[in-house]
Amino acid sequence: MTTTAMRADGPVYSDTVVRLFALASVLWGVVGMLVGVVIAAQLTWPELNLGIPWLSYGRLRPLHTNAVIFAFGGCALFATSYHVVQRTGQTALFLPKLAMFTFVGWQVVIVAAAITLPLGYTQAKEYAELEWPIDLLIAAVWVAYAVVFFGTVGVRKVRHIYVANWFFGGYIIAVALLHIVNSAAVPASLWKSYSAYAGVQDAMVQWWYGHNAVGFFLTAGFLGMMYYYIPKQAERPVYSYRLSIVHFWALIFTYMWAGPHHLHYTALPDWAQSVGMLFSLVLLAPSWGGMINGIMTLSGAWHKLRDDPILKFLIVALSFYGMSTFEGPMMSIKTVNALSHYTDWTVGHVHSGALGWVGLISMGSLYYLIPRMYGRTTMYSVKAIDLHFWIATIGIVLYIAAMWIAGVMQGLMWRAINPDGTLVYSFAESVKATFPFYAIRLAGGLLYLSGMCVMAWNVVQTMRAGRPEPVRIPAVAAAHA
Ligand code: HEM
Ligand code: HEM
Repeated sequence: MTTTAMRADGPVYSDTVVRLFALASVLWGVVGMLVGVVIAAQLTWPELNLGIPWLSYGRLRPLHTNAVIFAFGGCALFATSYHVVQRTGQTALFLPKLAMFTFVGWQVVIVAAAITLPLGYTQAKEYAELEWPIDLLIAAVWVAYAVVFFGTVGVRKVRHIYVANWFFGGYIIAVALLHIVNSAAVPASLWKSYSAYAGVQDAMVQWWYGHNAVGFFLTAGFLGMMYYYIPKQAERPVYSYRLSIVHFWALIFTYMWAGPHHLHYTALPDWAQSVGMLFSLVLLAPSWGGMINGIMTLSGAWHKLRDDPILKFLIVALSFYGMSTFEGPMMSIKTVNALSHYTDWTVGHVHSGALGWVGLISMGSLYYLIPRMYGRTTMYSVKAIDLHFWIATIGIVLYIAAMWIAGVMQGLMWRAINPDGTLVYSFAESVKATFPFYAIRLAGGLLYLSGMCVMAWNVVQTMRAGRPEPVRIPAVAAAHA
């Protein structure tokens, strides 16, 4: 049963919730990246914490990661999945009121995180820091999300389930599983709990979660965006639909086993580390298969890249996806990891995926989506989209190049030994040598943030120039929306 809104001229899509999530994503993008810039500045000049506990690096860092991943990325995923599942199924959302609950609930989660993390409440599990009451709310919102999404798939008017929905569906199911298993904890008080797991099992569960947060939250959902918005913007069908299906099954099967590469040379049994490494190497194949499928969708339309800034966002995102999914398998090789682990190389890898892939694919998709939520086909200023693209790209290159150089340098300095076996460099010397690279990273981050501010301005102007028009659902189900 749906509660499809009716107008005199026929049923319309449930776009209010899509619109709200899209706007929230832009807002949280600015906030999360601003906190990123603040912590990048603190790493360069530590006294910038001003001696205030809630401004200390250790508290702001999880605020940054939660804000960019779950608030910016999460809201973009909600907005696009709700948009895509309706258009490809040619039906309105199943239970739109429940969808609205997911919007309100998710914003409450974000605000609760923004209050509790600076106050120092944390479970101390990376990307799963939030304390148990907030975890319960996340679980409730996520179950509601699954009901709305799969309910909409269930009441679709088109027989075929378009591949983008497979990726969105896979991400929704996997994140529910990861969150519920990894967050199992025994509460000691309202804001303090202890993990249900102990010792190395706790570490393994955490990095099974952590790596699949990358695989499903930061990858599978965004691949859903790729499979819808690139063909739409390029006005070309997906390069190989068969490859997209192989891509889906291969990716979700392989990701699940790669987590132990985060625990090389730890108390985790050696065989488990090797399994993690092996699956990470295999992961290169489905990742690149997907990237090639996305990029080749432009076959015969390459010229569009020259003057369509939205396509630039979407295609360059895929190039960074290819880069980070080549780098990741390399870093999972134990001997390479012996150099890269604990260094800024990891941070460089993270941000080539985060800024390059997750950031650019979300921005490109939102630039397609937002004007259509305001009765327009283009943003207020197309020139500003182009400007955003160039500032962001230069920012990413500065950020990741600085971190790669710093990371390899740190790794080499830490392992350099004199003939008598003593260390050549003290740790403080490696910190001092890193200073210029932290300054360059800060400059890159400032550029990336400025690009996001240009986007926010463009979105506000688009809202002012357009109107939130209801969009009619076509009466006869055509092939694909
Ligand atoms: C203006 C843009 C950004 C800046 C300046 C920035 C800066 C930073 C800094 C300074 C750190 C701490 C690094 C360390 O611990 O040494 C960090 C960590 C992190 N950031 Fe960002 N960031 C930005 C955007 C993003 C975005 C858009 C995402 C995700 C979509 C993201 C995801 C992460 C993650 C996952 C970590 C943890 C990395 C790790 O544990 O190795 N960041 N960021
Ligand atoms: C084939 C795909 C990938 C593989 C095999 C892979 C592998 C790795 C490896 C080996 C590490 C270092 C672990 C350590 O030394 O602690 C790592 C860290 C990380 N990667 Fe990837 N990576 C892949 C793709 C990506 C993508 C696309 C993103 C982002 C969108 C990403 C985000 C991260 C994050 C956030 C971390 C830091 C985790 C932490 O320590 O907090 N990875 N990855």
